[in-house]
Amino acid sequence: MRDKNSIENLINLLGEKYSATGQDMNSYLEGLLYANFQNYWDYIDLDTLLTLQKPLTDFPDEVVFITYHQITELYFKLTLHEIEQIAGNGHVILDNGKIGGWNERLDPLFFTERLKRMNRYFDNLIESFDVLVSGMEKDQFLKFRMALLPGSGFQSLQFRKIEIASTDLHLLTHNGANETGTKKGINTDFESRFENMYWKKGAVELSSGNRTLTSTQFEKKYSVDLLAFAKTYSEKNLRAKYRSLPESAKKNSSLIRELRQWDVKVNINWPLAHYKSAVKHLHRDAEYIKATGGTNWQKYLPPRFQMKVFYPELWSEKEKNDWGKEWVEETMSEIKPGKS
Ligand code: HEM
Repeated sequence: MRDKNSIENLINLLGEKYSATGQDMNSYLEGLLYANFQNYWDYIDLDTLLTLQKPLTDFPDEVVFITYHQITELYFKLTLHEIEQIAGNGHVILDNGKIGGWNERLDPLFFTERLKRMNRYFDNLIESFDVLVSGMEKDQFLKFRMALLPGSGFQSLQFRKIEIASTDLHLLTHNGANETGTKKGINTDFESRFENMYWKKGAVELSSGNRTLTSTQFEKKYSVDLLAFAKTYSEKNLRAKYRSLPESAKKNSSLIRELRQWDVKVNINWPLAHYKSAVKHLHRDAEYIKATGGTNWQKYLPPRFQMKVFYPELWSEKEKNDWGKEWVEETMSEIKPGKS
């Protein structure tokens, strides 16, 4: 048998690759003689990466704030990358080792393994939120944040995409539009559901009832893209994918465990770690400080109030009634709003 790593074999394979596209292999081989070696700094584009932290003030802790947001967005990117592969049923690996399109069916094991990765990404985010809770001086934060008004993490496109790609849209609405569209007085067409997503309701000023500028700016930039994304994922979001599996696969305990973990991490544990940072930094002298995004955040952010559940069929009624309760009580008893 021919050694697949022999020079002869590799040259043959290269020859096939180049001739398939009408290219001259010898020219490419000559190019290898002159090409530079790949460096770490070029490969990960380090120089560019390190120019992306651009504080608006001279407060040193603003760099911590910006960088940690960027780290979070990169984890969000990885999360969406895994979701996209589940949505596409995973790649077909051809005999020649190359990637050749998407599989026809989703393998429950692949689904479970990719969910594990997503849960790991979020574990890291939940664990590391302390970088902002304890790792910034409140006095500095309260000053530099005024320079970034009305910007807010509320405007994170990737966070909204993760929510939308994780479940069916009606489970993200504030008016409880149901699956079959039979709930009285509620429009259940896709656009109405999109208009009623929970965060649109949350982003109103308490005094006037008007939408916050943070929210209208976000919509101006992203609502067309986000609606298109939601439409694309209406048939291939994680809940739809789970429900399309054969009955036996739906009962797979590892898959159910990972989906439940995902529900808890995105809808309780991360929001709670995030909420802690708001309590620590936006509470002073027994008063709540206005958020940069202008929401009534102490009523809007706690997971117990949002009651967002991606996979209601995987939880008992009691578990749903107690959603976020245990965690909230535990966390709130240990939070001491930071001193200024
Ligand atoms: C000191 C740290 C932080 C504070 C004090 C804080 C505060 C807030 C507040 C008050 C809101 C409510 C919307 C508003 O009125 O602005 C909010 C929303 C949000 N923030 Fe943060 N935040 C912090 C860090 C982060 C980080 C690191 C991220 C990562 C991307 C993030 C992402 C979000 C998201 C996605 C929302 C919308 C949540 C929802 O709709 O349920 N935040 N934040």
